[in-house]
Amino acid sequence: MSQQTVNGDAFENLLHEERRFPPTPEFAAAANVHEDIYATAAEDRVGFWAEQARKYLTWSKDFDQALDWSEAPFAKWFVGGEVNAAYNALDRHVEAGLGDRVAIYFEGEPGDTETITYADLTERVKKAANAFESLGVRKGDRVAVYLPMIPEAVVTMLACARIGAVHSVVFGGFSADALRSRIDDAEAKLVVTADGTYRRGKPSSLKPAVDDALAEPGHTVEHVVVVRRNGQDVAWTQGRDLHWHEVMEAASAEHTAVGHDSEHPLYILYTSGTTGKPKGILHTTGGYLTQCAFTHSAVFDLKPETDVYWCTADIGWVTGHSYVVYGPLVNGATQVMYEGTPDSPHQGRWWELVEKYKVSVLYTAPTAIRTMMKWGRDIPDKYDLSSIRVLGSVGEPINPEAWMWYREVIGGGKAPIVDTWWQTETGAIMVAPLPGVTATKPGSAQVPLPGIAVDVVDENGKPVPNGHGGFLVVREPWPSMLRTIWGDPERFKDTYWSRFEGVYFAGDGAKKDDDGDIWLLGRVDDVMNVSGHRLSTTEIESALVSHEWVAEAAVVGAVDETTGQAVVAFVILRGEVEIPEGDDPSAVLRAHVGKEIGPIAKPKHILVVPELPKTRSGKIMRRLLKDVAEGRDPGDATTLADPSVMQQIAADLRK
Ligand code: WT7
Repeated sequence: MSQQTVNGDAFENLLHEERRFPPTPEFAAAANVHEDIYATAAEDRVGFWAEQARKYLTWSKDFDQALDWSEAPFAKWFVGGEVNAAYNALDRHVEAGLGDRVAIYFEGEPGDTETITYADLTERVKKAANAFESLGVRKGDRVAVYLPMIPEAVVTMLACARIGAVHSVVFGGFSADALRSRIDDAEAKLVVTADGTYRRGKPSSLKPAVDDALAEPGHTVEHVVVVRRNGQDVAWTQGRDLHWHEVMEAASAEHTAVGHDSEHPLYILYTSGTTGKPKGILHTTGGYLTQCAFTHSAVFDLKPETDVYWCTADIGWVTGHSYVVYGPLVNGATQVMYEGTPDSPHQGRWWELVEKYKVSVLYTAPTAIRTMMKWGRDIPDKYDLSSIRVLGSVGEPINPEAWMWYREVIGGGKAPIVDTWWQTETGAIMVAPLPGVTATKPGSAQVPLPGIAVDVVDENGKPVPNGHGGFLVVREPWPSMLRTIWGDPERFKDTYWSRFEGVYFAGDGAKKDDDGDIWLLGRVDDVMNVSGHRLSTTEIESALVSHEWVAEAAVVGAVDETTGQAVVAFVILRGEVEIPEGDDPSAVLRAHVGKEIGPIAKPKHILVVPELPKTRSGKIMRRLLKDVAEGRDPGDATTLADPSVMQQIAADLRK
């Protein structure tokens, strides 16, 4: 970890934020949870979670022990219990007479819509469960999911959960190579994909990437099920490829869900770490569902009978897993699902949807809010957003300016904002205000949730006093914590449990203000956060050096007004290569990164430099490159083996 320092200076002024927004008495009185929940949880933390597990879930077999931490850091929650995720998200609502309640209002990018009730969704999931079983998928097998934001994505995930197969959703913006490495790592037996989707009014394809991914033999995939979404022609491998609609038509709509062990694997989701190889984060069933459902209810104050909830995240990320699929459906919520981009066919599309469906709880990312700010408030002002009563933010720190805009322009100056800190690894929200309890502060995630032992510690693992900064840690196991890294328990221990003795190291810098409220300050490792998406500097560097022109590469995340951070790469080209006339190396290398990892990883800038700044021991000084990329004077470069390197780079940049 080369950047393990906390650069809190830029945030110093935030700690003097004086604005406070307490809940209105009416909101507080009607809220799902109240102030006393903190004391209850503190009194008996594990007992508190056991109570939530029984309150939010229907267990086919009750558990005997809430937490087994005897093999720390490998946790077992709700030991001996059996529970089916799909039954909890679907059948039990239908059995309770809520079959006609809308589960999903689907809105396709071209404007096609579908209203799916809990009864409909249950039937579709039962069929898909039968269909997957008929293709030989058994409990414990892995299924790769490479789908756009369409209802079939939810159906696929829940059908896997129903039969105990482990889904591994790969974001549609990842390349064929990235998909293949994830298929191989998880040894997936089945791939579920679509011909494609729509992006800004045009068809965009997915199936060709699956074909590319599977072109080289040596993989474990037996079948590819293909949803017809945009109608594009796709190549077909006889015997391997099957049409979703044909397989589903043939499947029975009868399927009985059986309980799976509370610790049965629910899914793997790959995320970037500090090395080139993505980590397969493993989540299991009982604890994960408990914390998803509890937080979805407490943090968004969700009222399933009356609220219309919309989380704008793609199912390719953990937010889509926990707060589009599992949390809301387990709670019986009605939600909006939108396939496309916010500016298609016009920049008011989101607000048009809020007005149309009377969305009351909206959960999105700071990068989206800042983009909308740039487009101007006259766009949202054209729509009736008065249905909104709670606003959520996730993925990166939200700057107070964007927070205030969100509150005023989208929330009508009244809806509480919950800034939610968590990670793929934590599975569910960990730090956030409670909208009926907390007086919110623009820019701060503020308080660990009841039953969550988050702290900020110094270099030596000692808690920092109020007014000081350090590293965010979690002191006690929590129900939705990752259980391991798929196939690599050593890496799990090394990455999260070795920095400080016995506590979970999140990789984020944080400060406690004078009230003890927590402010997140960004990553302290080689992980970047671009538009709330996690990218690894090392992974992009490996992609760059895999191109024959590149001798060396260094990647940094530079502050960006809209996306939080932007990827900036510095590359040294090989002396011997002849670059064809008219080829722009930066453009070629950007495209190469897009092919290796996916369009989301393409550097915003690639600078060709003669040398990289290195210490005498040969370590690249990324800090200096970050200074340059952010337009600062890199200052002291005397520890470099060749101090003139930075002058050269700065001079090149001015050209
Ligand atoms: C990293 C986790 C949690 C789902 C989306 C991202 C950053 C996340 C916040 C927030 C400040 C945040 C952290 C964290 N992050 N939420 N509210 N305030 N930073 O999941 O891809 O696993 O990324 O996102 O740096 O470590 P992820």
